[in-house]
Amino acid sequence: MNAAFQARLDADLEKLKVAGTYKHLRHITTPMAAEVHMEEAGDVIVLSSNNYLGLSGDAGVIAAGKRGLDAYGAGTASVRFICGTFDIHRTLERRIAAFLRTEASLTYVSCWNANTGLFPTICEDGSAIISDELNHASIIDGCRLAGKARRERFKHADMADLEEKLKALQGCAPVLIVTDGVFSMEGSLANLPEIVALAKKYGAVTVVDDSHGTGVMGHSGRGTIEHFGLEGEIDIITGTLGKALGGAAGGFVAGSTSLIDTLIQKSRPQLFSNALPATVACSALAAIDALEAHPEMVARLRENVAYFRAALVQLGFKPLDGESAIVPIIVGETAFAIAMSDRLLERGVFVTGFGFPVVPEGTARIRVQIGANLTKGEMDRALAAFESVGRAVGILRD
Ligand SMILES: Cc1ncc(COP(=O)(O)O)c(C=O)c1O
Repeated sequence: MNAAFQARLDADLEKLKVAGTYKHLRHITTPMAAEVHMEEAGDVIVLSSNNYLGLSGDAGVIAAGKRGLDAYGAGTASVRFICGTFDIHRTLERRIAAFLRTEASLTYVSCWNANTGLFPTICEDGSAIISDELNHASIIDGCRLAGKARRERFKHADMADLEEKLKALQGCAPVLIVTDGVFSMEGSLANLPEIVALAKKYGAVTVVDDSHGTGVMGHSGRGTIEHFGLEGEIDIITGTLGKALGGAAGGFVAGSTSLIDTLIQKSRPQLFSNALPATVACSALAAIDALEAHPEMVARLRENVAYFRAALVQLGFKPLDGESAIVPIIVGETAFAIAMSDRLLERGVFVTGFGFPVVPEGTARIRVQIGANLTKGEMDRALAAFESVGRAVGILRD
């Protein structure tokens, strides 16, 4: 063991502890659900999960995963083009494409992988990427890996700035405009109608990561693109299977047949890494089936969000506006946000405080995520905890 290296790591960790920004892992001993048992805190209500529709606990989704285990074994042990692709991957990819109304799709072991596999593959010399400055870290890293592209960031949701960048990059091809559908730390939606209009005006390619929109936004849960009535207008959609669609893991790129074939040929995670476990492909398929069969889950999620949001405002909190299932409350400093989430946990509510560097300095927040599986009773108990902690930390005053 290199003692100097260890000492350096320990010193860095100590700095985080002194600053109050050290992250403690919480250990859950029961399935992810509206309430879980946590080793450190006992039974708690979960307001910090991507399980937006509660499908990770759906009996049909679980049964499909078990059937997948029996049918395909524990793992793929396979990079797809080297050792073979399981038929269930083809089935799932056709299903995702049909669900999102694209020609084709390709799965990855995560959306992180999908985003970092996409941009370097499609960006040759002469290309350019314009990315919203608040895009998810996986998009940022994917863009960084696209070393041959000119890379620009536009100010968050600022269409005038996007247009300036588009003008400056005329002559590059392709020019990609990339945005989250739902911004994961703000809960707000990308202005897709204007982005599509600008893309058409300047001949750009649109890329939307709808990880927090799929299963949440749109009448039938097809996401932010459905919400805006823009199906068929977005060139490339990336997303995760690790949130509303069963919550296990996995991500995908959806788009034209030529795009997907290009990724199969050249995308590095496809060429050098194992495929999505077949069990996960099976459970994700069942999750999409469940969502299509029960669009009322999406309506219930929306009702829960409206209820919780209105009650927070009634108590005196000022959550950021938004239509998604993410309801952030800005509290200022990172240490304060973490301390507040610790207090909420003591009161039986699991909700995470986020600070720098995940969000800009001074805008630390408690990020509430609502699920369709929360009962009114659970939401009311959580709201009572918010009220008492809000008063104790001085956010709420009489
Ligand atoms: C917008 C966005 N993209 C990608 C990801 C990564 O998804 P995955 O967990 O499938 O890697 C996340 C996860 O938080 C996300 O919020």
